[in-house]
Amino acid sequence: MPDLESFIRALPKAELHLHIEGSLEPEMVFDLARKHGVTLKYPTVEALRAAYDFHDLQSFLDIYYAGADVLREESDFYDMTAAYLTRAHADGVVHTEIFFDPQTHTERGIAMGVVIGGISRALKDAETRYGITSRLILCFLRHLSEESAMQALEQALAFRDQFVAVGLDSSEKGHPPSKFARVFARARAEGLLAVAHAGEEGPPAYIREALGQLKVVRIDHGVRCEEDAALVQRLATEQIPLTVCPLSNIRLKVFPRMADHNLGRLLQQGLCVTVNSDDPAYFGGYVLANYMAVAKALALSRAQLRQLARNSITASFLDAPAKQHWLARIDAFDEVES
Ligand code: HPA
Ligand code: ZN
Repeated sequence: MPDLESFIRALPKAELHLHIEGSLEPEMVFDLARKHGVTLKYPTVEALRAAYDFHDLQSFLDIYYAGADVLREESDFYDMTAAYLTRAHADGVVHTEIFFDPQTHTERGIAMGVVIGGISRALKDAETRYGITSRLILCFLRHLSEESAMQALEQALAFRDQFVAVGLDSSEKGHPPSKFARVFARARAEGLLAVAHAGEEGPPAYIREALGQLKVVRIDHGVRCEEDAALVQRLATEQIPLTVCPLSNIRLKVFPRMADHNLGRLLQQGLCVTVNSDDPAYFGGYVLANYMAVAKALALSRAQLRQLARNSITASFLDAPAKQHWLARIDAFDEVES
């Protein structure tokens, strides 16, 4: 029997909750800062990494937005995305659905085409190089106004063929999904799918709102659903996927310790939970590290780990033949590997 890490790495997996700006490693932050003559608040890579000591979502977001300021040219977005895809491929990720935050960049005067162009070019090259497939999801920053989100959507529609869905991220508390109902309606009218962060720090009511008002097909995080038994039942019955990010949840103090994480319980109740890395450069690990952390802390069986991999494929935006292909690979893997 292969060791746990080899087993998880070899499982075909999709990553469905990854903020590309959150894959910007401190070394690249420094390289880009040097390239563009930007003075950083921290003198060294080590000092910057040491600042990644978060106590909640907002304390992380403040550093995350500051880090993204070094992204200025198309090649910066390309290099960041290419680096992520190389790491994801090494972890056995076969398909990835990537969030990007256009407002973080357009508000600094970076053109939408520079952002989407650099990311998309890296996605294409990685598919050629590694066979890894991908989709892009445009995320609105919920701490900004609905007008700002609508403007970002209108600008991005010039590149409509390069993204498949819209999402909602940033500071959750005090910014309910209902604030963006009209923007999401406009996006859906354009044929875009919808997802939203909900129930990370915010209450279960935000998950209900995201489903009811934004008509999302997946919930990002969603772990606070557990406080509402009827909602848990609904998520299980309707098989609405949750993109859970274990290391993120510990680093942002959503759960005190990994042993307290509810992923195992949600899985046992039949929810379509998936494992993802969120902002891997900030939270201490990519997809494989996230699977390893929950596998160990929650003593997940290999059958449960295969179920998580299956869920990631089922919950993805891949077409039916591609899903069939990967699910068959996971099933075949069952017989050979365990
Ligand atoms: N939550 C909300 N906004 C974010 C996150 C997150 O985990 N990561 C990047 N933006
Ligand atoms: Zn996230």
